Amino acid sequence: DKARAQGMSAFNFPEVEAGVDADHHVAEGYDADVLLRWGDRLFPDAPEFDPAAQTEAAQERQFGYNNDFVGFIPLDGAADRGLLVVNHEYTNEHLMFPGIVTIEDGEIAVADATRERVDVEMAAHGGTIVEIRKEGGKWRPVLDGALNRRITAKTEMQMSGPAAGHDRLKTSADGTGTRVFGTINNCAGGVTPWGTYIMAEENIHGYFTGELPADHPEAANYERMGIPGGDYQWGRYHDRFDLAAEPNEPNRFGWVVEVDVMDPTSVPKKRTALGRFKHEGAESVVAKDGRVVFYLGDDERFDYVYKFVTAAAFDPEDRAANMDLLDDGTLHVARFDEDGSMVWLPLVHGEGPLTAENGFDSQADILIETRRAADLVGATPMDRPEDIQPNPQTGRAYVMLTNNTRREEVDAANPRADNAFGHIIEILETDGDFTAATGTWEILVQCGDPSVAEVGATFSTETTKNGWFGMPDNAAIDAEGRLWVSTDGNSMAGTGRTDGLWAVDTDGDARGTSRLFYRVPVGAEMCGPCPTADLTTMFVAVQHPADGGDDWEGHGRPSYYEDLSTRWPDFDEAMPVRPAVVAITRQGGGRIG
Ligand code: FEO
Ligand code: CA
Ligand code: CA
Ligand code: CA
Repeated sequence: DKARAQGMSAFNFPEVEAGVDADHHVAEGYDADVLLRWGDRLFPDAPEFDPAAQTEAAQERQFGYNNDFVGFIPLDGAADRGLLVVNHEYTNEHLMFPGIVTIEDGEIAVADATRERVDVEMAAHGGTIVEIRKEGGKWRPVLDGALNRRITAKTEMQMSGPAAGHDRLKTSADGTGTRVFGTINNCAGGVTPWGTYIMAEENIHGYFTGELPADHPEAANYERMGIPGGDYQWGRYHDRFDLAAEPNEPNRFGWVVEVDVMDPTSVPKKRTALGRFKHEGAESVVAKDGRVVFYLGDDERFDYVYKFVTAAAFDPEDRAANMDLLDDGTLHVARFDEDGSMVWLPLVHGEGPLTAENGFDSQADILIETRRAADLVGATPMDRPEDIQPNPQTGRAYVMLTNNTRREEVDAANPRADNAFGHIIEILETDGDFTAATGTWEILVQCGDPSVAEVGATFSTETTKNGWFGMPDNAAIDAEGRLWVSTDGNSMAGTGRTDGLWAVDTDGDARGTSRLFYRVPVGAEMCGPCPTADLTTMFVAVQHPADGGDDWEGHGRPSYYEDLSTRWPDFDEAMPVRPAVVAITRQGGGRIG
């Protein structure tokens, strides 16, 4: 538009003041309305949320915990009616269940797990698909929507693609290696051009306990993924999460899951062609020749950036023809070179070092141990790759690299040692072709406080004291090609600000200018920015409010059920703090931002 042509900012809204308090805040002139909270009813027969009497059966009919990715799939092409798809990444038991936390002499203890509690947690994981409608300018869930569905850690799923049925995926419950139950730790995700919902499985290691049998062939594979790790107690009650009982079960997690939302009885598919690692998300774009490209981050210090290119082209006229596009294609991993060029290295069995001599007997082995394959081809170890967002209008893609305080040796693409605040890389694919095997890249911005020289932040000088941020995590490109970035970890890092949603200019003189549009309550992380195609709504997900820890200046209140730093969004002593999805609209209607 005109402003951008003149090199000015593509955004025009009054900036929110950065800070920390118990409530959320949006730019003046906008409304931020809570749309769905943990425990909200999703079906006509769903029970009302009762925090003191939680059950698995109730939770299976209610909105889950820790909303992360948010997508909007219009129904019948309507702008005011569609399906909201939301990932429920993980559970915070100390914030969910009253009376389980005790503090004695400053020592915090959480009561031992019970089967009932574990089953509630499993039902609070997964995803929600719910019809929503806009009436009188406000969105509301439609409880009798025919397509409403909860997906949980127990939902039946199918393994598909090159690794399906492989011996390494077989368990005592499933001798076929194709039938698996549930999806876990679904962080970011995506909506495909054919309208399916993508749920990425990220930190799966934390759900497995117990010890692998001695000299088990999966030992190195699991070590590379940090399995076992974390402190979920699911393995006590469900053998499949106990490595001693089911040593192959972890190979059935760490995939990208695709859900056909138009059929509430459809069996979600774990698409093995996209590899197995700590998948942050899977945002996609249709390339010039019709093939579809998915950008994939592996969120671990020193892990990699990937892209998957489908073998066949997307058919916009025939939805059914696209339903297995994700089973056939080429997975690539990125090498970022010092001169600003880059190469997408294919991970294909028989090519280069990806042979039987290195323990890869087939493409299935490469997909099950994607990280090891990527190590061997010489990918560039990155500062925790999170969401990667392509811009279909420009042939570029934006990589959120959230932080890496363990980095000692730097390189051009990860230029700061002890990188506490992260950075954003802009990839320009050769000829603007998303399927390209090569490209160039630039750092859009090194994050952190520009007023502290040692931090080395590179926001533009137009960026105000409210406008800078650290720890970029999720991102969206809106219908006008503008970049929105949400963050994870600012309140924990003592930045004097909570996480939030920032509008970041990518073009012209304003490039590298950031401003704060919305900020979350204390302790929360900002997830899922989802602008609608008509730009009249921005959906955001407020994750784990009140869980900011107690080690940051001036706000050192512990985040336990009885003594919370916030009771957002209800501010009712009878209610726990609750993660929730918020719909942001302009007062009186109109374009966001
Ligand atoms: Fe679930 Fe990488 O954040
Ligand atoms: Ca996150
Ligand atoms: Ca994160
Ligand atoms: Ca995104």
